[in-house]
Amino acid sequence: PCITYLHPDGRRDEIAVDAGTTVMRAAVGNGIEGIVGECGGQAMCATCHVYIDSDIELPRACEDEEEMLECTAAERLANSRLGCQLRAGEHFDALVVRLPERQV
Ligand code: FES
Repeated sequence: PCITYLHPDGRRDEIAVDAGTTVMRAAVGNGIEGIVGECGGQAMCATCHVYIDSDIELPRACEDEEEMLECTAAERLANSRLGCQLRAGEHFDALVVRLPERQV
């Protein structure tokens, strides 16, 4: 699987990841700024907020994710998701996400 991160300044990082890796973990593990992942992927911090830029069907946000999406630092949009809840290989094969201006 592959994840592409689009930065607010126009930079783009494309990363090949192992199946099972989340959008948050892949960013943190590869030094991609713009995703913090403070709670370690428990859907409890909203510092892994991303905007989905791919035209694919993702599983709906669970209740915990929905709740945390109310607390994002940057504006929540219709395509807002928590990066820690999206798993490569399971929920998508290739995904493009846009990073918000800020996470805290
Ligand atoms: Fe905390 Fe995703 S890492 S909500």
